[in-house]
Amino acid sequence: MRILSGIRPSGELHIGNYLGAMKNWVELQEEQECVFFVADLQALTTPYSPQNLQKNIFETVIAYLAAGISPEKSIIFVQSHVKEHSELFWLLSTICPVGELSRMTQYKEKSRQFKRNINAGLLNYPVLQAADILLYKPDLIPVGKDQLQHLELTRSIAKKFNQKFGKVFVEPKPYSPKTGARIMSLQNPKKKMSKSDDQQGYIALFEEPDSIRKKVMAAVTDTGKEIKYNLSKKPGVSNMLTIYSLFANKSIEEIEKKFQNKNYSEFKKSLAELIIGSLEDLRRKRKELLTREVYIRDILNKGAKRAEIIAQSTMDEVRKKMGLV
Ligand code: TYM
Repeated sequence: MRILSGIRPSGELHIGNYLGAMKNWVELQEEQECVFFVADLQALTTPYSPQNLQKNIFETVIAYLAAGISPEKSIIFVQSHVKEHSELFWLLSTICPVGELSRMTQYKEKSRQFKRNINAGLLNYPVLQAADILLYKPDLIPVGKDQLQHLELTRSIAKKFNQKFGKVFVEPKPYSPKTGARIMSLQNPKKKMSKSDDQQGYIALFEEPDSIRKKVMAAVTDTGKEIKYNLSKKPGVSNMLTIYSLFANKSIEEIEKKFQNKNYSEFKKSLAELIIGSLEDLRRKRKELLTREVYIRDILNKGAKRAEIIAQSTMDEVRKKMGLV
């Protein structure tokens, strides 16, 4: 099977990105052929600074490597380095109805958030995402819950293309974890943890221990005293139980049992130390990788070359089917 996924380099990655997506990538690369990229073209659709973009791209690649994505096992590259993404994006946009794009939840959210910058890229980017995916004919796309709607659109574009021009694309399936597909904000457990959240709401992948302790201790809890999973009545505690269970690799029931007669403060203290311990290795690796720019550039060059071979072969088929040669 071929696996593909990507992350937009528009700020610090957080434990939601890690638990919802990257942690699964690391496991999948052991058995499958994997393609992981940094979606830099997508980052241009919301306000950004060109000076920071290179730094964010670099930090995202470092996060992949620090989390355990291996350049020997997986193809790692930057989206804009493989020009076929932009070309296929254009071709697919000619068969994608505008109505479907304006119905996308993320488009609606982002256009509410950035009222003064509702650019055409923001509306069209799910077509670019479809191109990112379909170019490589992957079988599975490991992502968090928020991306499922975009994957549905990708499947419908693939189907439409195949029906209209003849079969080229595979309709990929999403791969979301049972728990962790939607990690919530520590400040508002009814909202997903997000890079554009206020800083208290998320824990960055490379956050310093003291800051992790402060954020976990300040996390919103619920009425009552029990450490019990109950999404509607105890969304804050349930979110923390989910995070605990994923970092500890134990079931939620086991964690509930462990904290049966304990209070919120004891639970939070233990959660903070668990997160700190689990991310320690990533923090250490990041520090080391920050000094190895040449090594990282080399990984990205090689990755783009490997990706290009697959992308160019798909584009040859697409151009032929669409009457462009
Ligand atoms: P992005 O950068 O917003 O998020 C990257 C990955 O992290 C997951 N995620 C979460 N999972 C659980 N809980 C959360 N709170 C949480 N927040 C984010 C996302 O679901 C995603 O898997 N459009 C994509 C990037 C992209 C892409 C692609 C992904 C571009 N092309 C092709 C897959 C295939 C995005 O903005 O993800």
